[in-house]
Amino acid sequence: MKPGDPAAVEQLFDAVAPRYDQLNDRLSLGLHRQWKRQLVRSLHPQPGETWLDLCCGTGDLALELARTVRPGGSVVGLDAASAPLNVARRRQSKQPWLAVDWLQGDSMRTGLASASADGVVMAYGLRNLADPAAGLEEIHRLLRPGGRAGVLDFNRPPVDSAAAAFQRFYLRRLVVPAAAAVGLREEYAYLEQSLKRFPDGAAQERLARAAGFQTARHCQLVAGQMGLLLLQR
Ligand SMILES: C[S@@+](CC[C@H](N)C(=O)[O-])C[C@H]1O[C@@H](n2cnc3c(N)ncnc32)[C@H](O)[C@@H]1O
Repeated sequence: MKPGDPAAVEQLFDAVAPRYDQLNDRLSLGLHRQWKRQLVRSLHPQPGETWLDLCCGTGDLALELARTVRPGGSVVGLDAASAPLNVARRRQSKQPWLAVDWLQGDSMRTGLASASADGVVMAYGLRNLADPAAGLEEIHRLLRPGGRAGVLDFNRPPVDSAAAAFQRFYLRRLVVPAAAAVGLREEYAYLEQSLKRFPDGAAQERLARAAGFQTARHCQLVAGQMGLLLLQR
């Protein structure tokens, strides 16, 4: 599959959706929840605020944010693929007090109003966009002045580092075989391909500044395996 091809990416995540949460938990030993909580904590969402979760998938971050912005706040979760959104809607139906609207759309061209959000998050989405710079520009457009955003994804350590060697081992020897066991080998082999074209932390900071962000700081999590880009408009 060609990384960044919107139709192929949508098809991939529609196929993965029924197994996505289970595989995520197994492959990260549940740690992805901790990284997502760290992302939310870093951004200090407040009761009454309006937040967006772009590339929301099955809705982990949107639901976490909706808990945090109560009372009075609201969240929009947006994703290109319908199957993960259906999982997200089912999850929310068990917590109907959480104010989340789910939208199918493109994170590079959401059609949402400019300067309408206090905060925006994107987890494991930027790497999948045809044009990550366009994704960052759209986040900037959506934020009100002073608004903040966080982008969580795999980090791209230097190719010859121990962190990169571990990442290759993890993706090839653990992720792909576990996915293959549930019939999703090709879908998860795509992960390493998508990382090859993903900007590293310093390049993400440069792209974010070019998009207009006042502050752009990339930090590494779990010994350089994951990266968190923190932004302020
Ligand atoms: C790896 S999943 C991450 C889901 C969720 N944020 C999480 O962390 O569990 C990537 C998601 O990005 C979505 N996606 C990819 N390209 C997109 C685009 N251009 N616009 C909106 N969503 C997109 C996919 O459909 C998929 O659900």
